[in-house]
Amino acid sequence: MDSPKLFDIHSHLNFSRFDEDREEVIKRMRDNGIWTVCVGVDKKTSREAIKLAEKYDEIFAAVGLHPTEDLTTGFSSDEFEKLARHPKVVAIGECGLDYYRIENQPAEAEQIRQKEVFARQIELAIKINKPLMVHCRSAHGETLEILSSYEGARGDIHFFSGAWEQARKYFDLGFSISFAGPITFADEYDEVIKKSPLDKIMAETDSPFASPAPHRGKRGEPLFVKEVVKKIAQVRGISYEEAAEAATRNALNFFNLRTAPKTTK
Ligand code: NI
Repeated sequence: MDSPKLFDIHSHLNFSRFDEDREEVIKRMRDNGIWTVCVGVDKKTSREAIKLAEKYDEIFAAVGLHPTEDLTTGFSSDEFEKLARHPKVVAIGECGLDYYRIENQPAEAEQIRQKEVFARQIELAIKINKPLMVHCRSAHGETLEILSSYEGARGDIHFFSGAWEQARKYFDLGFSISFAGPITFADEYDEVIKKSPLDKIMAETDSPFASPAPHRGKRGEPLFVKEVVKKIAQVRGISYEEAAEAATRNALNFFNLRTAPKTTK
């Protein structure tokens, strides 16, 4: 288990939709040489992500507070710092801004709360020198503005859904982006997939959500990251092996896993 064949950099194996068959899903993933980062969206799911990471060499954890969770009590930097210092925690997040509830854009107070909670997580990431796993929906302008105001902030824009112009700005800040299942059935991502530097992109499933073709409509799982990589290869006109190798190498570098920490149990 020295290095993975593929790396699903963002999944939620900690979510209850895997309660029935989590072990089988993880077995399929491991049997295929796939590693993943199990991502928390609040304190509870962050702790659960760490538990899974303690149990399996192939699973790492991200801890954070997602912008669509209840933010009224704010972000407890102290509590999250304790979680974040765990040797198998490789990122802070997911955190960021989500202004999607468009038509009725989130109220101004909610936007301020989201920015505040995001800022605390950026500060924590810088403090403990781990990258950010950024969630951004319908708020790229504001996200870019906040990230560029912090020197030393680094990270990945997960489930990237923006335009090339935005991707370019994230790259200029030193950020990478990752693609999820929808690239397999929508062509609006093709331009960004094609133009991005190969060393700036990674693959993910965000499972159980957003399954790629041909699994659309089914619950997602890390195994499906193969389909995402296949599509990246196809759009860029390179071989599957080349795309898989690049996306995996990028993930190992991004999470600083060149020499992966073993589980503690
Ligand atoms: Ni997610």
